[in-house]
Parts: sequence; structure tokens; C-alpha cells
Amino acid sequence: MLACLITVRLSLPCCLPACQASHYYDVQIERFEHLPAEQSAETLIDFSDIRIIGRERALNGTMRIVEDMSNEHFTVSVDFQTDPLNNGYWRNMVFALPSLPVCTAFATLIGPYGKSTLVQGVNTDMPFDGQQCPLPRGTYYMKRLLMNTDTWPRIMPFGGLKGIFRFVKRGKMIGGCSLITSITSKLS
Ligand SMILES: *[C@@H]1O[C@H](CO)[C@@H](O)[C@H](O)[C@H]1NC(C)=O
Repeated sequence: MLACLITVRLSLPCCLPACQASHYYDVQIERFEHLPAEQSAETLIDFSDIRIIGRERALNGTMRIVEDMSNEHFTVSVDFQTDPLNNGYWRNMVFALPSLPVCTAFATLIGPYGKSTLVQGVNTDMPFDGQQCPLPRGTYYMKRLLMNTDTWPRIMPFGGLKGIFRFVKRGKMIGGCSLITSITSKLS
């Protein structure tokens, strides 16, 4: 525990295997917004039926994929912004995820970090775990989903953190979502 405290204070990665990120952070969901397709394109992935519910502010609802999303024609990117003082002054963070083919992005980058939050068959059946390619069309649920940071990087900024997910087909944005969370330290 002492080692964890020291490494956190120094902003170095935790050195002890027992120090999961969830021991450091409380992550509260503040806002969820769906992003529609750009004007000249059709929305092919639709997050507009997802809401924040209950006192614990969980994500709940359904998401729709309108057509199979193959690695050849679809990409996804994630941009992160941070508001360290919670005063609405958002800044881009350096660790954006570049635009990658959808299946590759979920299998290699997004899935591994998301797997403690998106638990297949428990709080979701969204095909974001990197197991299926193409991402099959269909309607998927998200049930009282809270953020679980066990698989997050050990260095996260405190304050507001916004993740903006954009899905693109042949150069056109066809839908996405943005999620704003508030991250506080459990150690202070
Ligand atoms: C949660 O989402 C499901 C659909 O997946 C819906 O049937 C249910 O009414 C929602 N619950 C609340 C409290 O909104």
C-alpha cells in the first residue's frame, strides 16, 4: 500500500500487481451524448437510446448497428479531452487513439481497456470485445453499466475526462458517442 501511495504521488506506474487502477480512482459518469452522422451520411451506428439512470448514474439502454461493420470499410477513432479543474476548460490529451479499422481497434486497443466495464452477457451484449468481425448489425443492450477501471492505465488525469468515439465509413462520420466522466482519487 505504501508503495502504491508513493508511486501515485510520483505519477509513476504502480509497481505492485495487487494495485489495480480501481484502487486509485472513483469514476462517475457525468454525461453521455450520441453523435449523429455528418449531414451527407446516414447514421449506421446509433447510440441515441442510451441514458444515464438512477442515483448511481449508470448507462442504460440500447445501441443499434445498422449494417455489418467490416474492417475494410469502417474505422473508429477515440479522442480524449481533460478538464483537470472541472471548470469547463477542456484540453486535448496526447493519448488519442488514431483512426483504425474497427475490428483492429476493438481487438487490440479499445477492447482490452473496456473489458472490465463491458461484461459480455452481464451488463451488455455489444460486440466491442474484439471477438467478432465484422461487427454484426443488430440492436444491443447496455444494462445499468458503471465504469470499472480495473483494466485502465494506471496513470489517469483527475477531474473531467471526455472520450469521443467516432465511427467512419469511407471518409464519412456515420455516428458515435461522447462520454464525460469525473475521476477522483480514492487516496486523498
Ligand atoms: C434500461 O434499458 C432497457 C433496454 O435495454 C429498458 O427496457 C429499461 O426500461 C431501461 N431502464 C430504465 C430504468 O430506463
